[in-house]
Amino acid sequence: MPDEKNALFRRDFKKDFPLLRENPVVYLDNAATAQRPEAVLNAQMEFYREYNANPLRGIYSLGQEATQRYEEARESVRAFLNASAPEEIIFTRNATESLNLVACSYGLSHLKAGDEIVVSILEHHSNLLPWQRLAEKTGAKLIWLECEPDGTVTEEGISRAFSDRTRLVAITRISNVLGCAPPVERIVAEARKRGAVVVLDAAQSVAHMPTDVQRLDVDFLAFSGHKLYGPMGIGVLYGKKERLAEMEPFLLGGEMIQSVTREGAVWAELPHRFEAGTVNAAGAWGLKAALEYIREVGFETIGKREFALTVQALEGLKAIPHVRVQGSGDPRKHCGILSFTLEGVHPHDVCSILDADGIAVRAGHHCAQPLLEHLGVPATTRASVAFYNTPEEISLFLNSVESVRGRMGYGEF
Ligand code: ALA
Repeated sequence: MPDEKNALFRRDFKKDFPLLRENPVVYLDNAATAQRPEAVLNAQMEFYREYNANPLRGIYSLGQEATQRYEEARESVRAFLNASAPEEIIFTRNATESLNLVACSYGLSHLKAGDEIVVSILEHHSNLLPWQRLAEKTGAKLIWLECEPDGTVTEEGISRAFSDRTRLVAITRISNVLGCAPPVERIVAEARKRGAVVVLDAAQSVAHMPTDVQRLDVDFLAFSGHKLYGPMGIGVLYGKKERLAEMEPFLLGGEMIQSVTREGAVWAELPHRFEAGTVNAAGAWGLKAALEYIREVGFETIGKREFALTVQALEGLKAIPHVRVQGSGDPRKHCGILSFTLEGVHPHDVCSILDADGIAVRAGHHCAQPLLEHLGVPATTRASVAFYNTPEEISLFLNSVESVRGRMGYGEF
């Protein structure tokens, strides 16, 4: 390995992750969920051991401590996203719930028949199905923002998708299948011109690059904790204060009200209005630990390591006969995600053979069926890297992929 690459991979981050320390798996399914560092596991346990009471309710000291931890977690998410106020941060279960919240609470009361919702063809089902249903319920029309076969969203595509009737735009920051990044800045500018709101699905991007909601200037942004080295079951919806303030709550129940009478209720202030029921405070506390861990590692290191691994994997895959990598083939446009097909072998078989070699990758449609249909492939095998992966692991992955056709009985491989 050249010296520079050697230096880049000198620190063994896997040591920080109990599962990776104890399990020899070559984990390349980071786009589905990342592993969690010890600090996150400890933080969750710490919450239950030291602060456990029902947050936002208990007047007694322990209850107040639980509330304080939960609100500290909110503040850490605010800082991570550079949101202007903690009230703009709503804790949910995951990105899916966050997106459904916007579709129900904003969409149902702000869209009407004849309005248009622009959705890109790159979307995960989570950022598509809520808008399909919203269109069905309101009579609004779903308009596709198409992409080129390599995932590029063009100016022409943008001008075809937008019109004076565009009221809402749902777009991903990074495609979970191709790893490409649509031109969000350009799309936000177009949406602003039309007076439309922008919903950004950042589930796939938050672990790989800084996220600044003020700079992005989107109205809503969603992500899940579990792809960001945090716990499963905790997610975030960011919403501009003025947008959230004009929305009705999505779930009704405990602790999201100011007062209730026999006739009705007055909702609580932001953000609690959108957090009905007992919240996942231990998850929020774990997410805070994940954000601290990421800050310590730094996006510069994360970016450099992931890029080096992507270059190695991409070059290696391109050199294997019968492999076709989906997307641009430019490592700068893959964000650590490599979806590929191997001629004559179903992705599920590729995945099973790699699994036999101790390598975890995902196979299937990756919850993005319209995109796969657009690309003309029913399924792919997808390898996705994180900063804790190593060049040695990528070599094992490439050797395994190279052996698949031979092991499936093809004469030459
Ligand atoms: N959305 C996750 C993925 O792409 C689960 O695998």
